[in-house]
Amino acid sequence: MTGAAVVSGVPWFDDRGAPVNAHGGCLLAVDGRFLLFGEHKTDDENVFCGFSCYSSPDLVHWTFERFALPVQADGLLGPGRVGERVKVLRSPATGRYVLFAHSDSPRYDDPCTVVATSWTPEGPYDVLGALPTPHGPLRRWDIGAFQGADGTGYLLVHEGDVHRLSADFLRVEETVATGVAPGGESPAAFEHEGTFFLLVSQKTSWERNDNHYLTAPSMAGPWTHRGTFAPPGTNTWNSQCSSVFPLPTAHGTVPVLLGDRWSFPHQASAATQVWQPLSVDGDVLSLPEFLPAWDPATAAPVPLRGTAVDVGFDSSARGTTTEVGCRAGRFALVGPTDDRGGYGLVEVLDAAGAVHVSSLVDFHSRSPDVGLRYVSPHLPARPESSGGWTVRLTVTGEAFECFQKDGTRFGSTGCRVAVDTLLELP
Ligand code: GLA
Repeated sequence: MTGAAVVSGVPWFDDRGAPVNAHGGCLLAVDGRFLLFGEHKTDDENVFCGFSCYSSPDLVHWTFERFALPVQADGLLGPGRVGERVKVLRSPATGRYVLFAHSDSPRYDDPCTVVATSWTPEGPYDVLGALPTPHGPLRRWDIGAFQGADGTGYLLVHEGDVHRLSADFLRVEETVATGVAPGGESPAAFEHEGTFFLLVSQKTSWERNDNHYLTAPSMAGPWTHRGTFAPPGTNTWNSQCSSVFPLPTAHGTVPVLLGDRWSFPHQASAATQVWQPLSVDGDVLSLPEFLPAWDPATAAPVPLRGTAVDVGFDSSARGTTTEVGCRAGRFALVGPTDDRGGYGLVEVLDAAGAVHVSSLVDFHSRSPDVGLRYVSPHLPARPESSGGWTVRLTVTGEAFECFQKDGTRFGSTGCRVAVDTLLELP
């Protein structure tokens, strides 16, 4: 079922079997490949450990390419800094790739937009410094980037500032809109049939909220508030917008929301991508339905098919485990999440008890949901006589939590892990 599908809200695995570790990022189409750039997170602290670059022929199979921008020896993206919201554009004037990112202190009290450049899309990018503007370096936090059909580059900033970049994209030339989205973070923009869309989240740190959008006839505005694009109360289907990628499909270009379902402190293992095709009708943007799996060639939903094995596990007690047999070479776990959810450890064991796969899964969601929680990587072939695999699920007793810059706590209130069904995938 999900072999050729983009699956949201579950960890993805790369060509090495490691989680695809690229968050808060963006996609670029280069020479028939998709390149994904994002924050390479850790599982314990919030410190810059590089921006990663993965490639894919189809948005489904991902190869780790390299660190597009590794931790620098010192400076704005050196040790002990925060590095977030990496965005990459290619300047048509110079042919160079230009990377933008938010650099900060661990306390988020030294924000700045970094600019870096490379002749090759994968990097390595050379850091030039803080992005210059006519009024000095840009010292703001959340950013996005957008390139118009005419090649013009724009840098988007939280609260809805829109800056037009110079032709080489290495400095801000003019601020074309200011403060059009008060209270907005993680700005993302795209154009569809002559209408410009600006998406922003609210400020709840890494916790999900109802994101909203504005429209305008040009990047300079005037920008009109349009409200939420996902049904209110779904907290944008439990995600935060990071960018929008115009995906060419058999049915024309479909804007795809690249959202993040963050999972602090275990972002490396358990933060997931929420990539959803958006619907546009004139200047109305919507995401009425969450598609657990969809076909990147058509943007159509892909049904989840497999042989269901009853699991019936629901526990919040640290160390509680359950074991289920699985004869397939790949499986999925289906179950509920809500704001009492915690981390579950999923392990795949052979008949001798050796662990072949070990994954951390976050069962927290601010809005309740029932659905796909995990899709395993392909398991090594097993001889028929060996009796298949054992899937072990353990309640870790830990949960997602994060703090807004003013100290407000967000996150889970419990450590619940619940799985209804294991699906043996064909
Ligand atoms: C928001 C921002 C992220 C990050 C977190 C940290 O989610 O959009 O980029 O800064 O807050 O709390």
